[in-house]
Amino acid sequence: MDQLLSTPAIAQGLRKVETRVQRLGGSSALPAINDAAGRIIRAGGKRLRPAMTLATSLALGKTPDRRVVTAAACVELIHAGSLVHDDLMDGATQRRGARTLNAELGDGRALVVGDFMLARAGLAAITAVSRPVAEVLAAAVVELAEGQYLETTDLFNPHRTKESALRSVTGKTAALFRAGCLVAAVCAHASDEDRVRMAAYGERFGLLFQILDDLLDLTASSERLGKPAGNDLRQGVYSLPLLMTGADVSDLLGRDMSDERVEEVLRRLRAGGIVDITLAYCRDLAADAVTALPAIRDQEVATLLRELPDAYIQRVASLAQLTPVG
Ligand code: FPP
Ligand code: MG
Repeated sequence: MDQLLSTPAIAQGLRKVETRVQRLGGSSALPAINDAAGRIIRAGGKRLRPAMTLATSLALGKTPDRRVVTAAACVELIHAGSLVHDDLMDGATQRRGARTLNAELGDGRALVVGDFMLARAGLAAITAVSRPVAEVLAAAVVELAEGQYLETTDLFNPHRTKESALRSVTGKTAALFRAGCLVAAVCAHASDEDRVRMAAYGERFGLLFQILDDLLDLTASSERLGKPAGNDLRQGVYSLPLLMTGADVSDLLGRDMSDERVEEVLRRLRAGGIVDITLAYCRDLAADAVTALPAIRDQEVATLLRELPDAYIQRVASLAQLTPVG
């Protein structure tokens, strides 16, 4: 991942994306909205989704131009807006080391600031990129909402199926990674086959990204996460790593779990092989992602995209495996 973000052409593009996201987030007629959106945008984040947009453009032989930069900025703005809504739904008070908008401004204002960010991205896509790109992004927002909705229907459901969990993460996370790659392919006027290939790459990467995030929630220490470990359990989100492990924890799941109970679930999952099972699943997704890649002329970009999924898994594996739980 560091390799991706530090590749000169991508790092240079990301600086432009940063300016564009901040400009879009600060474009309301109401200064208070600009302050709120700006705080979330400036609070951090890896900018992985726009980096994928830029990398796709390079992979398809195009130096990212103004339209690709704007499309990448729209992807990041949608991501940031969705996090505002996610924190509101979770009642979270901290994100990226800063206070969430719902904690700072109240739920109603946070809701409309998130709406502003999503709508502003849509407006920029249609006015400053192209209608096909705006369509791709709007379709991704639909999928995000569906994936997130599906998660709420399974909260505290000990019988949640793996299929339902997979469908949810495909919508709530993989769809935007997919769209991030696809918009660059659309801007590059790539062939239908290359569009499908890059979209599949983005989707597979997005899936493994979210599944590893869910694994860390169940295995990494609170200090590493910057939020309490086992947060998903407390919130009633029984994620794919938990469901895949096959350790019987259903007698312990429920509302208002004590710290001891959460720790016992984490211990059983660890003993049931959660780390190895999840990593193996993600390695299969990584292999699928790499298989989906089209032929790429630029060898540096080809290597980057081929190595990214496994490098990301490796990085998370060291976080998940070295940290004792409980
Ligand atoms: C973070 O995941 C949340 C998402 C990836 C998507 C959130 C989507 C919505 C709130 C739907 C509404 C959005 C739109 C675009 C209408 P997480 O909760 O697993 O991760 P976290 O630990 O970072 O909170
Ligand atoms: Mg959340």
